[in-house]
Amino acid sequence: MTDPILKEKLDKIDRIRLADLPTPVYQLKRISQELQKNIWIKRDDFTGAEMSGNKVRKLEFTIAKALKEGADVLITAGGIQSNHARATAAAAARLGLDSHLVLSISEEPEVEGNYLLDQMLGAKITLLCEDEGITLSEKMKEVAEEYRQAGRKPYIIPVGASDGVGNFGYLNTVREIMTQEEALGVRFDAIVCAVGSGGTYSGLYLGNKLFKLDRKIVGITVSDNKDYFMKVCASIVNETLASLDEQPEEDFDFTFIDGYKGRGYALSSPDELRFITEVGMKEGIILDPVYTGKAFRGLYSEVQKGTFDGCGNILFIHTGGQYGLFPKQGQVAEVL
Ligand SMILES: Cc1ncc(COP(=O)(O)O)c(C=O)c1O
Repeated sequence: MTDPILKEKLDKIDRIRLADLPTPVYQLKRISQELQKNIWIKRDDFTGAEMSGNKVRKLEFTIAKALKEGADVLITAGGIQSNHARATAAAAARLGLDSHLVLSISEEPEVEGNYLLDQMLGAKITLLCEDEGITLSEKMKEVAEEYRQAGRKPYIIPVGASDGVGNFGYLNTVREIMTQEEALGVRFDAIVCAVGSGGTYSGLYLGNKLFKLDRKIVGITVSDNKDYFMKVCASIVNETLASLDEQPEEDFDFTFIDGYKGRGYALSSPDELRFITEVGMKEGIILDPVYTGKAFRGLYSEVQKGTFDGCGNILFIHTGGQYGLFPKQGQVAEVL
């Protein structure tokens, strides 16, 4: 990283250490051969076990802020199988804090996967029916108010910890990747990730800009679409820039690819699950059904279509989420 002032500013941001870093990077040999392209993977599913995946990188910054503000209970929200909610519950327990999760449901949930772990990690849980006419954010505010009334200090972490603070997680990951490039003697022309709430992509994008790396940062959307994420990520990036006293950006050159959400967020098709299984058999890597399975499938087919022509080395970030496979075990077994 060239700019010492920027480095100093970044090093001053409050952070607590929760993740096992750096995560490994290596080439996927058989898939690279198949695609005639060097495909690499960064194993951010190795950031921990209970806290595995991308969220813990963001939580290092978000929870540091919460602690600075004196919080004693962390409130967050997501879907019933939210990886972020589970990681937050684990982080809270590790730090001796309480956690309260607001989880959206469409039907009575089975106690399995992340939802089971949430309970084993001591989280208090409020289930919110999708037709209740109240958003997750509104419900979190209500829950926080109840804690305040009881004399507690709640801190609300937005869905996915995808805000200006959580964004430092992946902004710093770019520094980690640059160090790994040097050690490996390789230049990643493109860095690719799944986009669920936008924080991972925003951090990678901003790191690439601030460190003037000129790489292609590609997000494959799995929950919403390009237009939505253009707005969300612009706002996250500018929130981070403001906190660094840097000028806001006006012209964003985000690269989002739609078309791989399949049947919808968190819904799986046999083809997607078959693809995940094939990657497991070829490379010994288990992708998750909600984010990385869809995103890596997107990358695979976009390479075949020529979207990455001109990129010699492509790095895919495995952002974790494998616990989400267990509630789908019946569907997975059908494609074996
Ligand atoms: C396993 C996994 N991968 C990727 C994502 C997407 O990351 P982001 O929410 O930062 O866009 C999420 C969460 O949304 C996730 O849990």
